[in-house]
Amino acid sequence: MEAIPPPPPRILIVDDDESVRDVISVLLREEGYNCTTASGADMALDIANQDDTPLVISDMKMPGKDGLWLLEAMRDKHPDTAVIMLTGYGDTEAAVDCLRRGAVDYLLKPPKLTDLIRAIERALAKRRIELARRRYQKKLERKVRDRTAELRTALRDIGVTYQNTLLALVSALDAREHETKDHSQRVVEYTLAIATRMGIKGVELDEIGRGALLHDIGKIGVPDAVLLKPGKLTPDEWVEMRKHPDIGFSMIAQIPFLSTPAQIVLSHQERFDGEGYPRKLARHEIHIGARIFAVADTLDAMTSDRPYRKGTSFGNAVSEIARCASSQFDPEVVRAFLDIGESGLVKIKEDMAARKAKLAAEKKTNANGNGNGAAAGNGDLNGSGNGEKPKG
Ligand SMILES: [Fe+2]
Repeated sequence: MEAIPPPPPRILIVDDDESVRDVISVLLREEGYNCTTASGADMALDIANQDDTPLVISDMKMPGKDGLWLLEAMRDKHPDTAVIMLTGYGDTEAAVDCLRRGAVDYLLKPPKLTDLIRAIERALAKRRIELARRRYQKKLERKVRDRTAELRTALRDIGVTYQNTLLALVSALDAREHETKDHSQRVVEYTLAIATRMGIKGVELDEIGRGALLHDIGKIGVPDAVLLKPGKLTPDEWVEMRKHPDIGFSMIAQIPFLSTPAQIVLSHQERFDGEGYPRKLARHEIHIGARIFAVADTLDAMTSDRPYRKGTSFGNAVSEIARCASSQFDPEVVRAFLDIGESGLVKIKEDMAARKAKLAAEKKTNANGNGNGAAAGNGDLNGSGNGEKPKG
C-alpha cells in the first residue's frame, strides 16, 4: 500500500496590501502549500491562536500593529512557529532587528518566487529540526527523571537492607546472651538523643547510631563458657572477654560504610580518664561516638532490671552519671545528657516500648503476611549489656 503523504504545512501570509497577499498565496498554492491570509497583525494572531500555524510570512510595515509586534507576539505565544519577515528596500536595519528578535529569515519586497520558496523550505526544515531536538531533550529529561527515581528507590532499599542486616546481626548476638531485653535498641536511642543535643546530625549521626547498635558485635568471638558464665570471671577469662572490642573492630572495619562505626566498636569500653580498655585511650583520643555511647550504655544498664537485681530509678542513674563526669565520662557529653533531663530520658524509653508494642500488634495482625517486622529503630531485638555483666 502506498503511504499517504503528509498534508502540506499551513503558511499564514500577513500583509495589509490585498494584492501582495493574493499574489503570494496564489503562487505558493501552485507550489503545493496550504495558505491562509490575514490583513493585519491582530487577525494573524487570532488565526494562529485557533489553528496550528507552522510558518508566518509577514510584512514589516502595516498600519496599527506592525510586523515587529506580530513577531514578538508569536515568539511569546507560539514559539514553535517560524516567522519570515518581508521588508522594503533600504530597511536593512529593521531586517537585522527582526532576526535579533527571533525571525528565521527576511526577504526584500517584492520577493522572487525562488527566493521565497527557498526561505520557506529553510524555515520549515529549521523548525522540524528544532522540534525534533526539543522532543529528544524532553525524552532524555524524562529518562533521566525515571532513572533517578529508580536509583533513589534502589538506594533506599539498600539502606533498609543494610539496617535490617545489622539488626539481624545484633539480634542474633543478643539472643545468645538473653540478658537485658532491648538493651541495644534503647542504647541507640539514648545515644542518638545525646548526639543530637550536641548538634551532631546527618551522616555523622547515622554512623554513631550504627556504632552504638554494633558495639558488642565482637562478643560473637567470645566463648560461651566465658560470655554466658553465671559467676565471676577469672583473670584469664577477663582477658578473653576484653578481646571483644578488637574482634568487633576487625569484623566490620573493612566494610566501607561501617568504617566509622568500627572505630566506635573498638573504643566503646574506653573511659574518659584512660582507665578503660583495650587501648587505654583517654579524653578526646576516644571517638566522640564512643564517649556518647558510654553514657547511654550506663544509663540503660543501671535502669534496666536484671535477673539478679532490680533496675535503679532514672533519677539515681542521672545523678550517678553526673557524679562520674570527667572520670568515667566526657563532661561535655554529660552536659548534653543532663540537658535532655530525667523526664526526656524516660520518654525515650517509653516511646520505644510503645513503638515495639505497636509493631508486635501489627505483626500479630499480619501473621500470614510477609512483612519483615524489624523496622529501623524499633526492631524486635533482645539487647545485651556491654560492660555491665554480673561477671566483674
Ligand atoms: Fe562491650
